[in-house]
Amino acid sequence: MTTRVLTGIKPSGTPHIGNYLGAIRPAIAASRAGDTESFFFLADLHSLINTQDPLRVQRSTLEIAATWLAAGLDPDKVWFYRQSDIPEITELTWYLTCVAGKGILNRAHAYKAAVDKNREDAQDDDAGISAGLFMYPVLMAADILIFNANTVPVGRDQIQHIEMARDFGQRFNHLYGHDYFVLPEAVIDENVATLPGLDGRKMSKSYDNVIPLFAPPPELKKLIFSIVTDSRAPGEPKDTEGSALFQIYQAFATPAQTAAFAQAFADGIGWGDAKQQVFERVDSELSEMRERYNALMAEPQKIEALLRRRAEQLRQQFAIPLLKAVREAVGLRDLSAAGDTAKPVVAAKAALPLFKQYREKDGRFYFKLLDGEGQLLIQSVGFDSPRDAGQLIAVLKQAEQGDALQSELFRIEGEVEPVLAALQALREAAAKD
Ligand code: TRP
Repeated sequence: MTTRVLTGIKPSGTPHIGNYLGAIRPAIAASRAGDTESFFFLADLHSLINTQDPLRVQRSTLEIAATWLAAGLDPDKVWFYRQSDIPEITELTWYLTCVAGKGILNRAHAYKAAVDKNREDAQDDDAGISAGLFMYPVLMAADILIFNANTVPVGRDQIQHIEMARDFGQRFNHLYGHDYFVLPEAVIDENVATLPGLDGRKMSKSYDNVIPLFAPPPELKKLIFSIVTDSRAPGEPKDTEGSALFQIYQAFATPAQTAAFAQAFADGIGWGDAKQQVFERVDSELSEMRERYNALMAEPQKIEALLRRRAEQLRQQFAIPLLKAVREAVGLRDLSAAGDTAKPVVAAKAALPLFKQYREKDGRFYFKLLDGEGQLLIQSVGFDSPRDAGQLIAVLKQAEQGDALQSELFRIEGEVEPVLAALQALREAAAKD
């Protein structure tokens, strides 16, 4: 089964080499792995939460699109699109908003951090906080759920958002009695490369210590020559450990090149020479990509056309049909079809018990039975195939008496009485259909 992997990229400013090594390069490499269908999108709607400068929004979106394409993203093999080209995402955001618990959003890290800051500054809790910041996780859930993504590779700071997406998706599925949404899993890359910046701290825009990914060679050289080093003179051995210069070199070098550079440090290479070598190494790794980037930036209409084309395909294939089903589910329906059957069916459905089949990380197949309020009644053991699980569900659906159920209790965990009642309710509903 192919796994759907979805990655949202918030356009914010010009990317730096830390972004490239830590996020862009590994994500593109992963998108080339077999058995994955990759979705990469420019989260331009999210960027409006951080900036109200329209030129900056436009410029960043273009730069980020050109960066990912220049870095080797193949727009015919992956889905590469712009969030705002898919109006169904914003529409879905509303349906999810209406099932999302406000209390859950209150606990979102980004919002809580903003409130904490206000308290520190003796301000009103919500001073200067937009509802957009508060709702950020719901929009993000819509991004993920609309394409039924299985996995979302994220940094640790985003895990909570994926959990919220699961929560909102699950609530919706449960309330409307059908698995409209796949529940996504966060995938954390434990060994993401973090690169030191010019001052030796982590490379980050907020420290103002970055090397822009596509800096023209003279600027690149100047920046590399400004990397802080200790005061050891040429001829004195230098430590590679803790050297920002060395780490930047290493990130762009083969193991053999790195070993040779380490030897040069031990042999007392002068800092000027070392910096020259780093410049040459980084420049040779980036120059082709920079050329591609400059070519793309010179023809923004091509990027525009590409993004629109892919978004339109996604809308036709996935977003429009899904939203049609979702609108129907919530009751935004054709009024002329409002016969007397419509209402009772919906009401009964919402209160019905529900079997759920799913697969766990251990690769085995499980199911559970939930009652009309979503309480867990049965938790099964793991099965080797979905068929095995399905067969037992079929047996259970027939079980009208306690002993039929009793004989299966070694394969499920649950209390007999409420389970029997739930099964009975299911049978009655089936008989009415
Ligand atoms: N919140 C993500 C970030 O700040 C960007 C993002 C928006 C995203 N929607 C997403 C990431 C959906 C993954 C899936 O980096």
